[in-house]
Amino acid sequence: MRKTGAGTIWGKKHYNIPNLSQYHLEPTPFVVDAIPFLRENDIKTILDAGCGQGRNSLYLRKQNFEITSIDASKEACALTKKLFQKHNLGLSLINSELQNIPTIRSNSIDAIICVTVLTHILDPEIVLREFYRILKPGGILIADLANTKDSTYPIISKSGIPLGKNVFLEGDTNVKYFEDSEDVKALFHKFKVLSTQDITFEEPPHPGSRQYNHIHSSFVITAQKQK
Ligand SMILES: C[S@@+](CC[C@H](N)C(=O)[O-])C[C@H]1O[C@@H](n2cnc3c(N)ncnc32)[C@H](O)[C@@H]1O
Repeated sequence: MRKTGAGTIWGKKHYNIPNLSQYHLEPTPFVVDAIPFLRENDIKTILDAGCGQGRNSLYLRKQNFEITSIDASKEACALTKKLFQKHNLGLSLINSELQNIPTIRSNSIDAIICVTVLTHILDPEIVLREFYRILKPGGILIADLANTKDSTYPIISKSGIPLGKNVFLEGDTNVKYFEDSEDVKALFHKFKVLSTQDITFEEPPHPGSRQYNHIHSSFVITAQKQK
């Protein structure tokens, strides 16, 4: 499969900048909220898909889950590795695009969390197909997709280059916003959708863009691979 080049783009935009340590590394609130659900479902192994600097990987590892972190950006992988080393924790780390992850066996992972990644992928169906392949039967996927109430929507819909309905090119990266939760559900048609929540959460500053606290509004999907 042809590479999308996401790793180079994100590496340059987000991770190849000075003073990265100034940024917060708190986990995403909906990941924290998912812990009881993950435990109830006897989840042991989790893939943090598009791990970035590793904030959610670290949090989940500290909750005693077995974590594999993956990101297309080698800079992001290096930061995640460094973060785990700082906390004296071992890590399984893969530098790969999510569209094709040959190093992960089919039916091998209990759960996948994918935070603020699918929103930036033009072909999320290809990624979802790969997620479906590697999840165990009955495995869980928790992922968010930005919606049009997001605080970045009024900014990016003006400054970005339109690529389609509610899809924009912002610099080198794409952002796709959803208006209707039914459209989000349709994306996950291979899965059994367990819930779709329309949530708002505060994000700390990001390196490379939006270097201030900002509010995200997203649909969070919890879906299950058929048993
Ligand atoms: C907005 S950041 C989110 C990072 C992390 N999930 C978090 O919440 O802190 C998006 C991440 O997805 C990664 N990414 C984007 N497209 C990707 C792709 N096709 N395959 C793998 N990773 C990708 C980027 O390198 C970046 O680290």
